[in-house]
Amino acid sequence: MTAIAFDGETLLAQAAALVDGERDWVANAANLAALAGTQIPGLNWSGIYLLRGDELVLGPFYGKPACVRIALGSGVCGTAAQRRETIVVPDVHAFPGHIACDPASQSEIVVPLLDDDRLIGVLDIDSPVLNRFGEAERTLFESLATLLVRSSDW
Ligand code: SME
Repeated sequence: MTAIAFDGETLLAQAAALVDGERDWVANAANLAALAGTQIPGLNWSGIYLLRGDELVLGPFYGKPACVRIALGSGVCGTAAQRRETIVVPDVHAFPGHIACDPASQSEIVVPLLDDDRLIGVLDIDSPVLNRFGEAERTLFESLATLLVRSSDW
């Protein structure tokens, strides 16, 4: 992972404060996407996709406009949703089927949003830096995803 100094605990505390007392998923997803995109160094896109039928549909995000619909099993997002597990991609050009929304993106992490057995969608984070996401980032974004799911009505 590219070493970029950052305090994940502080960000999680800020995230918890932002969603405190609010159950609207649009408001909470929008604020957490903006928090991650503006406060975590080396990111160019952060947001969620929601499961709608058998595809993912773009939700609140921070960054450039992105592809709206992704089929389950397609790209990093659709694969993470289908497997229901986090996928860390050190180099997006080496991931077969990667969907390039912003050509600046070099690495990516996608975390499924799971409410027990129910798949709500995915949290998608992109970086213009190769190999940006390591174990610390996986833990941070999985915690952020859990916070978002539990704090909101879907
Ligand atoms: N790269 C993703 C598509 C979404 S954008 O990165 C915002 C993918 O391969 O599924």
